[in-house]
Order: sequence, then structure tokens, then C-alpha cells
Amino acid sequence: MKKIFTNFIGIDDTTITKNNIYTEDGVIVGAYKEDEDTEIIDCQGLFLMPAFTDLHTHFRDPGFTYKEDLETGSYAALKGGYTAVNLMANTDPVVSSKEVYEDIMARGRDLDLIDIHQVYAITKDFDGKSLEHLDDLPQGVNFISDDGHGVDDDTTMYEAMVKAKDLGVNMTLHEEVRGLSAINYELAEDLMTIRDCYLSYKLACPIHFSHVSTKGSIGAISYFKDLGAPITCEVTPHHISLSERDDLRVNPPIRENKDKYALIGAIKNGYVDAIATDHAPHTDEEKVQGKPGFLGLETAFSTSYMTLVQSGEISLNKLVALMSTNPSGILGIKKGKLEEGYLADFVLVDLDREYTYTRDEIRSKSKNSLLIDKTLKGSIEKVYRRGELKYENN
Ligand code: DOR
Repeated sequence: MKKIFTNFIGIDDTTITKNNIYTEDGVIVGAYKEDEDTEIIDCQGLFLMPAFTDLHTHFRDPGFTYKEDLETGSYAALKGGYTAVNLMANTDPVVSSKEVYEDIMARGRDLDLIDIHQVYAITKDFDGKSLEHLDDLPQGVNFISDDGHGVDDDTTMYEAMVKAKDLGVNMTLHEEVRGLSAINYELAEDLMTIRDCYLSYKLACPIHFSHVSTKGSIGAISYFKDLGAPITCEVTPHHISLSERDDLRVNPPIRENKDKYALIGAIKNGYVDAIATDHAPHTDEEKVQGKPGFLGLETAFSTSYMTLVQSGEISLNKLVALMSTNPSGILGIKKGKLEEGYLADFVLVDLDREYTYTRDEIRSKSKNSLLIDKTLKGSIEKVYRRGELKYENN
């Protein structure tokens, strides 16, 4: 199927273009002469960007589908401009067996809404020590993680990195020394981050840091990146837009101003690779009981745009790099650039449009958003995956 996208301002990580984009069978191709089978898609002067990729998502499926499932999560992703997500393994059962992994992947493919990538557990059932299940890793796994928990034991982490490197899989690491969180939450993140930076550097093992939230952690990551360690990292929209709040339960917690400004500084200096949502659906009752986390997929673009671009901290190109080009590259998806050979996954955005995000319009099954009834800017109008329209505002 041939389609020509026309009448837009195209933005990827490096370019700004008004040239038409030619696609064939869901991929960007070089210019061709249109014929009667070619569909012309008028983008009404909106901004066209490569659709986003989220490296850190919880869809709660299987086990907790009363808060989200693959389908409701996928619709939430599309509403936020995402066509690919990387699902964490803290489901019930934990994703540490072939059967659970393959079931999720098959159901995601059948839905055919977005690209579902499923993370596999580092330790079997998150027991913090068993690694044997990694010897029989299902085909297609590209990330392992015990997200929700840190891997406390040093030797286990050392052995896990050796295995991950051998297997050619990446790790996405939740850094938190469990025993320290209640005593000094900042130290709990910093200490494990420093350990894993050093291990990655010594073993030349690629690792990715999840939801980095402290000045100490981003400082260590920057230092070891400069030394040449094969490290990437993500920050969340909430950690760069909020600070000095202890009434919001999320893990890692909302930190201090010094941390928020260190993260934004690191984004500007090129040490942060991706913005990831940590989309964490919970019911209203669970939130009252103190479950950590918020929804993120539907509002990540607006939050990041307002915090980073409108404020003049970074360019729109750089935001596309953080939300599409880099995370797609880290996940191994050919997406994130408006160039020949890349997937025709696009998001059309009205950057000037302000909207009020209401509880009624939330596409997630859960409603634990911090942004209900807030006025946001930068509205996702349409989302195309492989050239097919998958979401339209209203
Ligand atoms: O706030 C959080 N919620 N942090 C995590 O690491 C896990 C997540 C969840 O699964 O709810």
C-alpha cells in the first residue's frame, strides 16, 4: 500500500522538513510517482514526528488486569502518541517463564494496536537470586529487569551481567537497596547505581538505568558514560516536572529541587538517552492504601513538551530524540527518523492546542493520573502505525 503524507512540519531528532513523506507497506521509501492506488494523507499543517517508544511501561497483564490489560494499555499508549512499549515483568505470574512471555507476545500481536515488547525477569519470580531461567531465554527477549525491586546481592548482579552479556540481552535496572529505602531513600538509589555503573564498566556489559531520579545517580551515570561504559538511561516526566513533594507515592519518590535540576541539566548535556513514563496503573482504593506510581502514557508528551521545550531548555528535535529516536534505537526498532528505511509510525501533534485532561477521557482502566483537570499543551491529534491510522483525537 502506497501513501504520501503531505502538508505538515516534520520533526525528527535532527531535521525540520516540509517535504512530503512517501511510504510503502508501512515503511518510509524514496519519492515515487503517485498512481491511482496511492493514498494522499493531508496532515493539515500539523507537526509530524516519529511516533514515540516507551521503554518503561506496566500493563499489569496477566494477574492484575483489573487495573490495566494489554488492550486498555495499548489504547492509552496510542492516545499518548506511542506505537511501542516495553512492558515490565512485575505481573502475576512474574514474566520469568517461556509460557508467560509467549502468551503476552501472542496476545499483543493479535491485538495489532501497538508493538508490545515484554521484559523478562532477571531473577526467577523476582526471588533475588536464581538465574537458571535465563539459560532458556525465549526468542525475542531484548531486556531483562526485576523492576519494582533492585537486585540486592552483589554476586547475583555480577553473575546476571555476565549472563546478559553472553546472551546479548540488555538490562533495565531499578536501582534501590531494599534495606536502605526506609532509612535513606536517596542513598538507596545512589549506592546501587554506582555499583552497577562500575560493574558495567568493568565487564563491558550494556545496561540501561530505569527512572533515574537523584543528582547522585545521574552524576555517577554521567561519569561512567564519560569513561566509556556501555550505559544508557531514562528519566520520567514526573521526576523532571515535580519536586519537593512528599505527598505523592511513587517509586523512586519525587525528589528535591537539586535532583530535578540535575536531571534537566543532564538532559541538556546529552547524558540522558530517553524519557520513559513508568506508566503504573492502580485503582483509587490501592492509591489510598499507598501503592506507588501514576499513569504516564497519555500525558508524557505534553508534560515533557511544557517542562523542557516551552520553557526553552531543549529543542523540539531533542525531545523527539528522547521520546522516539533514542528509545527506539535502544529497543532495536527502526523508528524515530523521517528517513528512508524507517517505519511509517507517525504522530501528528497540534503544539498550540491547550486541552483539559479530564478523568472521563482517560483511556487507561485506572485513573491514577496526577494531571486530571489540569490544562496541558501539545495535543496528540492522530497516530499512524506502519502507515495505518490507529488513533484520532475525538
Ligand atoms: O512507582 C512505581 N510503581 N515504581 C515502580 O518501580 C513500580 C511501579 C508499579 O509497578 O506500580
